[in-house]
Amino acid sequence: MIVCICKAVSDKRIRRAASEGVVSLRELSRELGVGTCCGKCVPQAREVLSQAVESQ
Ligand code: FES
Repeated sequence: MIVCICKAVSDKRIRRAASEGVVSLRELSRELGVGTCCGKCVPQAREVLSQAVESQ
């Protein structure tokens, strides 16, 4: 499922980033560009990332 349409970033890609050490939305934005265009994906991206970080 695509979370960030603008940057074509999927939930799977966000989970992979978390497994590679990304723990904050700021890092996720820097790495993948999530939320850097329209910003509509930010709440969902934050949710997916926090679940991924917690489940590690
Ligand atoms: Fe992520 Fe637009 S959907 S910045």
